Amino acid sequence: MLDTIKKIGETFRLPGEPDSYDVITNGNINATYRVTYRNPDGSRKNYIFQRINTTVFSNPVQIMQNIDLVTTHIRTKYPNERTLHFHHTAEGKNYISAGENAFWRVMNWVDSITFDTCDDLSVIEATGAAFGRFQNQLSDFDGAKLFETIPDFHNTKKRLDTLFAHVAEDPCGRVSTVQDEIAYIESVREKAGALSVRYANGEFPVRVTHNDTKSNNVLFDRETKMPIVVIDLDTVMPGMAMYDFGDAVRFIANTAAEDEPDLQRVSFDTAKFRAFCKGFIGEVVSGLTQPEIDSLVLASFSITIELASRFLDDYITGDKYFKVNYPEHNLVRTRCQLALAKDILRKQDALEQIVRETVRAVSEK
Ligand SMILES: Nc1ncnc2c1ncn2[C@@H]1O[C@H](COP(=O)(O)OP(=O)(O)O)[C@@H](O)[C@H]1O
Ligand SMILES: [Mg+2]
Repeated sequence: MLDTIKKIGETFRLPGEPDSYDVITNGNINATYRVTYRNPDGSRKNYIFQRINTTVFSNPVQIMQNIDLVTTHIRTKYPNERTLHFHHTAEGKNYISAGENAFWRVMNWVDSITFDTCDDLSVIEATGAAFGRFQNQLSDFDGAKLFETIPDFHNTKKRLDTLFAHVAEDPCGRVSTVQDEIAYIESVREKAGALSVRYANGEFPVRVTHNDTKSNNVLFDRETKMPIVVIDLDTVMPGMAMYDFGDAVRFIANTAAEDEPDLQRVSFDTAKFRAFCKGFIGEVVSGLTQPEIDSLVLASFSITIELASRFLDDYITGDKYFKVNYPEHNLVRTRCQLALAKDILRKQDALEQIVRETVRAVSEK
């Protein structure tokens, strides 16, 4: 491995020699290594070497172009802030492709910690602030310049249409076993798809969205626990700002794991929602339009139904997309997201109230 690292490092013109490396295991898409280099003057410097998962991302070149555009924009706008720095080859590329499945990039390592899950409300608030800030940093960037790496990624209406087409086909004979789930999704189909329809009609601005707003995609300062920088820019695409918010709270405010079989344990934690709102809205309040702010709660519901329908679709069509650890895994995931969506709906008024209170508090500051 050190040989491979050495060759890659040479192509990116890193000074010195690689000394050692360790594998970072908390991401679940790419292969990530922290590599220590010995500089010519004897000092040491760490880098992150990442092999992009080309099974998941079939357009790595376009992804790296998106990342170049976005990081250059942020760095130019905020020259004094910590930003993600990707190294370039002599030809000016921020990646190298060394044959099939060997697509590499190198960035500077940032001394930091990440949180895979988190119960600490101040960390949740900071995560909200980090993603809100990311939205702001790119508010003047023309989203149309970005390649849409996964077309219709959050076209909820289209996702639901696909699900119901597969329900009609029933390719694996599983539909009769999931009637309750299908009936519920049918009952909320229009509501869950509404924002994506309005977006397609041009009612919301085309924003630059991150599309993987998990807490472990923010690097935090070890001591202060303040966010340093948002990472994992593979899914940066044009999209709806409120879906980034919705996906973040769907994940962070769920009291259970995404595949919890005991639905009694699944609920939407309003205190965590409030904390995330405080951080996120604190950053974006003057940047987002009123219709976007008014859609934050509906977006949280919509994206939860969207994910439930993707899990159910995968179950009905034979578990081809999501990795399953046991035969009913996708069904368990579906039920978990549906339980969460139902709880969001039950609490909708209270959640809307929290958004309004947060906007007021932030605006009065
Ligand atoms: N520049 C960096 N500095 C320090 N740690 C990093 C850096 N980039 C990534 N990491 C660590 O590696 C993990 C996985 O990286 P990430 O880009 O999120 O890959 P994945 O797409 O597999 O989730 C992150 O959660 C973080 O802990
Ligand atoms: Mg990640």
